[in-house]
Amino acid sequence: MHQINQRLNKALAHRTDLDMLRSLKAPKKGIDFYSNDYLGLTHNNEFHTLLLEAINTDPSLLVGATGSRLISGNSACTMQTEAFIAAKHKAAAALLFPSGFMANLALFSSVPKRGDTLLMDEFIHRSVRDGARLSAAQGYRFRHNDLNHLEQLLKKSKGTTFIAIESLYSMEGDFADLETIVALAERYQSALIVDEAHAFGVFGYGLVAHKDLQERVFATVITYGKAMGLHGSAILGSHSLISYLVNFAAAFIYTTALNDFHAVSLRKGYEFLAHYPELAQTLQQRILEFRTSGIPLLSAANSPIQTLLVPSSTAARALQMELEKQQLLTFAVVSPTVKAGTERLRICLHAFNTQAELDQLTYALRNYLTT
Ligand SMILES: Cc1ncc(COP(=O)(O)O)c(C=O)c1O
Repeated sequence: MHQINQRLNKALAHRTDLDMLRSLKAPKKGIDFYSNDYLGLTHNNEFHTLLLEAINTDPSLLVGATGSRLISGNSACTMQTEAFIAAKHKAAAALLFPSGFMANLALFSSVPKRGDTLLMDEFIHRSVRDGARLSAAQGYRFRHNDLNHLEQLLKKSKGTTFIAIESLYSMEGDFADLETIVALAERYQSALIVDEAHAFGVFGYGLVAHKDLQERVFATVITYGKAMGLHGSAILGSHSLISYLVNFAAAFIYTTALNDFHAVSLRKGYEFLAHYPELAQTLQQRILEFRTSGIPLLSAANSPIQTLLVPSSTAARALQMELEKQQLLTFAVVSPTVKAGTERLRICLHAFNTQAELDQLTYALRNYLTT
């Protein structure tokens, strides 16, 4: 035991030496330029009231599900919500998970098999990479958004080929060229899997639905912990895919089901988003305003995630702290989350950020860039 702790401490000390130690901190007070709450639903009183009404009508929604979905934990409410979600996205079927991480783990660990090939964008989320590590399929990374590289790998791939991308990349704030990748996947008879964690709610029900590509994409992962202000996720796809996951995905089978309040709140969340399309429009307005600042940003012009390259982890952290002193909450993304040499400041924009807040951030960033 003692020896194990020594080993753990050595690894932590190494991280400290590299100025890479992570630690949990109490929530900060300030202007939110770092959360994924793009539309502000977590502090929307009307949304709170909708959720409270559901609980008041039936407080038993709040208690646990008593078991996994294949034993005692399934409910009519969850199944109805899955059918509701599938219909909203014009997908054949949907399966709920407690988080996006679990959904990707379930999908990538169970569907690609030995003899198959899995081609992942190099910046794909960690949950996809961890799922892939649990699969016996051969995994390769293609250079970020480099479709020539993807095609080279497609030409060499063996067995059934899967391609994993995000529609809007979480650390870059840029988009995948969905239509071209869909066409490429079709040309090479590959199964395309799209993670829509950051696009859902910001661009309608996500870019796959927005571009009407549901029938040409093998699976879509939607997460509810970001623009919807809740938590959990859904995998969308064919009835065969959903039934396969129910049978073979360990991360789905061997865990206690979510409670009914989760299912009900998701339905309320969809209704709320449909009722207030102006939230996403306001967000686009804020993004446009921020982009006119002339700050050299790496990300796509209409992305709620905007990134500024910073020379090192130390510089990125120093900038984050300097902004924090001015009540501006941003996030320094440092290695190992991103490659060394590509450290950056990540700025998340929200529908609720005011013009004065944007001006304050722009002013502070200009100061940083000119000193
Ligand atoms: C692209 C992407 N996929 C999946 C996830 C995991 O989703 P969740 O936070 O619901 O576990 C995230 C979360 O950061 C993400 O950015």
